[in-house]
Amino acid sequence: MPVQVILGAQWGDEGKGKIVDMLSEQADIVARYQGGANAGHTVVIGDRQYVLHLIPSGMFHPHIICVIGNGTVIDPAALMSEIAQLEAAGIKVSGRLLISHNAHLIMPYHKLLDVIREQTSTKIGTTGRGIGPAYIDKFMRTGIRIVDLLDRDVLAAKLKTNIEEKNRILTRVYGESKIDVDAIIAEYEDFDKRIDEYVTNTAVYLNQAIAAGKSIIAEGAQGALLDVDHGTYPYVTSSNPTSGGACTGLGIPPTAITSIVGVVKAYSTRVGNGPFPTELHDGTGERLRTVGNEFGATTGRPRRCGWFDAVAMRHSVMVNGIEQVAVTKLDVLDGFDEIGICVAYEHRGKRLRHFPTDLRTLEDVTPVFEFFPGWKTPLSAAGRYEELPENARRYLEQMAEMTGTRLWVVSTGPRRDQTIAPPVGADQHR
Ligand code: GDP
Ligand code: IMO
Ligand code: MG
Repeated sequence: MPVQVILGAQWGDEGKGKIVDMLSEQADIVARYQGGANAGHTVVIGDRQYVLHLIPSGMFHPHIICVIGNGTVIDPAALMSEIAQLEAAGIKVSGRLLISHNAHLIMPYHKLLDVIREQTSTKIGTTGRGIGPAYIDKFMRTGIRIVDLLDRDVLAAKLKTNIEEKNRILTRVYGESKIDVDAIIAEYEDFDKRIDEYVTNTAVYLNQAIAAGKSIIAEGAQGALLDVDHGTYPYVTSSNPTSGGACTGLGIPPTAITSIVGVVKAYSTRVGNGPFPTELHDGTGERLRTVGNEFGATTGRPRRCGWFDAVAMRHSVMVNGIEQVAVTKLDVLDGFDEIGICVAYEHRGKRLRHFPTDLRTLEDVTPVFEFFPGWKTPLSAAGRYEELPENARRYLEQMAEMTGTRLWVVSTGPRRDQTIAPPVGADQHR
């Protein structure tokens, strides 16, 4: 039975939350495999909008079990408040959420260091949620894991050692004041009581579910171009949103994965710093931001906007193994006379064959655009692929053809019913 990886194919905020929520209807389990509360996944149900940060986007279907995998980094304060908000809205979380005992914890000092580093070294434009510093500790092998919460003595000892080291860094390197060990120990001992009911060996749970033929969605956060290995380093997040991250971040083998779906916006956005070849600094960029309501779901920051970048997408398709795409926010392009797609990059007079991962080249490329006629009519009424205006279909088919992918879902608005469900007009463009 299927294990589908649903991931962001660009720089995040592609609409993964909406697509995962929609596909959850047919699934049994939704499992998040990396990142933390830096994510903001929006799900709109009727006239209510929910923004999820750590909880998988399958939570709104009562039959779904949600898993937060070992590859994530968990800020217990953020998680507890997210659970409380959902429960207050009538969404039952208890009994439906499993958290990996091997996931790492985000500590108050990770958030502090995240913010300080942004001020003192390369300005990545992070979300300030402590993600980078928590993954540093994980890979330094000093991180504190969920399982450590369950043993008070181990927790206290590890926290003391870690905080002593952080205090040396805070005072000597950054001239900041020390943080108090005892307050943090007390705070995290309290989380232990509240988190206990959710904690389990999720790798065993997921592998048993695979063996039992359950249908699983592995949900990525961020996007492939923010991947620490395959993105626009150093302007990336500190984990692997690409499809391989689903295996390491959940403890499932690559052979279990049956399909990989790239969620892709019909144009491009990026929040935070770093190269963005198709960015539009003019009225068109502003129009995409306004019509698309392109403001961060986690930080509220305005997102940078530009045309769809087929070169970057081909890179994403290659490193992820994307075969099918869910194209979102097509309706945002409704009013445009013409719509651009970047078909190639030029660098010092030469066409580049591949998306450059070397920052200096990428910052220096000139995008080559092809323009396609708009459809100039609202799309959200279309329930079937064939009902889309011809120019909209032609645009989608160009996106698919240029990136070597198959159209699978088309989203024409934030709501569940504003979706052309899979498979859209089965391989019509092939
Ligand atoms: P995620 O992080 O990938 O889940 O995406 P975000 O939730 O951060 O950003 C996507 C935004 O676009 C949210 O406000 C969604 O409600 C909205 N959205 C999703 N799909 C569509 C769509 O097809 N059309 C429009 N207009 N908005 C959409
Ligand atoms: P979702 O899951 C868009 C960006 C930040 C910054 C960089 C590093 O909603 O798509 P971090 O706090 O992770 O160390 O920041 O990554 N970033 C995102 N951009 N969507 C996200 O998540 C993001 N999560 C992190 O803006 O540029
Ligand atoms: Mg988001």
